[in-house]
Amino acid sequence: MKNTSVTFKEAKVKEKKITMLTAYDYSTAKIIDDSGINGILVGDSLGMVCLGYEDTLSVTMEEMIHHSKAVAKGAKNSLVVTDMPFMSYQTSVYDAIVNAGRLVKEGKAQAVKLEGGTEVAEQIRAIVNASIPVMGHIGLTPQSVNTFGGFKVQGKNEETAKKLLEDAKAVEAAGAFAVVLECVPAKLAEYITSKLSIPTIGIGAGVACDGQILVYQDMLGMFSDFTPKFVKKYTDLGEEMKVAFTKYIEEVRDGVFPADEHSFKIDDEIIEKLY
Ligand code: KIV
Repeated sequence: MKNTSVTFKEAKVKEKKITMLTAYDYSTAKIIDDSGINGILVGDSLGMVCLGYEDTLSVTMEEMIHHSKAVAKGAKNSLVVTDMPFMSYQTSVYDAIVNAGRLVKEGKAQAVKLEGGTEVAEQIRAIVNASIPVMGHIGLTPQSVNTFGGFKVQGKNEETAKKLLEDAKAVEAAGAFAVVLECVPAKLAEYITSKLSIPTIGIGAGVACDGQILVYQDMLGMFSDFTPKFVKKYTDLGEEMKVAFTKYIEEVRDGVFPADEHSFKIDDEIIEKLY
C-alpha cells in the first residue's frame, strides 16, 4: 500500500510505529522500499555521507533535486520526503514556496522537510497552503550547527525544553503532517509526542516517538567519519565491502577475474581471419 502524509497521521491514531530511512540514489531506494519501509527521506545529510562535505550547509537545491529524482524512481510504496537545503526557505516565504515546488515538480518529492520551529512557521503554512505536505524538524537541526556550536543534544534545561515544546506546537499548528525530533532527551521527546496530534519521528530521541529514522549508511556501518551515540549498527557493510573490493583487486591482479563465465565468445574462425 502506498504511504502518504495521510497514512502517517493515521498511523499515530492507530498507534502503529512509523519507519523511515534516508536514501540518495535509485538502487538503495529500491532495496529500502522493497523491505517495507513507510518513508524515505532524501536528507541533506547527502552532503556529508555522499558528497563528503563537512556539514549540510553547502548542499544546493540542484543537488537535492538530482538525488530526489533518483530516489523517487526507486520508491514504489514509501513516502518520499525531500529536505529543503540551507537558505532555500529561511530567506523568505516566497523562496520557501518556490523551492518546495521545485522539489516536487523536478525532484518528484511527495513531501518536503525543513528545519526549525516558530521562526519558520510562516513558511510551513505557506507551503502547506500550496498543497505540498511538510515534515518539520526540531531539536538538533544540523543547518544551525554554527549557532549550536556543534552537533549537541538539545532541550536539556527548562528554558530549552520549553522552547522545543513551543516549536513542536508551532510546527503542528502551521499544518505539518509530522515532525522529526533529533537529539532530544527521551523523556522530553515522550512528553512532546503526547502533546501532539501529528506523529513525531525520532532520531536520537528515544523509543516513545511515533516513528524512527536513521541515515542508512550509519546503520549499515558504511560511514566511518563519526558515529553518533544514537546509531545502532545493524551490520558492518563497510567491512564487508572492503573484503569484497580487496578480493576483486587480488583476482584482477592474479588474472582470475574475469573467468570464462564472465566473458563473451566468438568463433575461432573469425579471429583467425584477422591474422
Ligand atoms: O538530513 C537528514 O538525513 C536528516 C535526518 C537525520 C533526520 O535530516
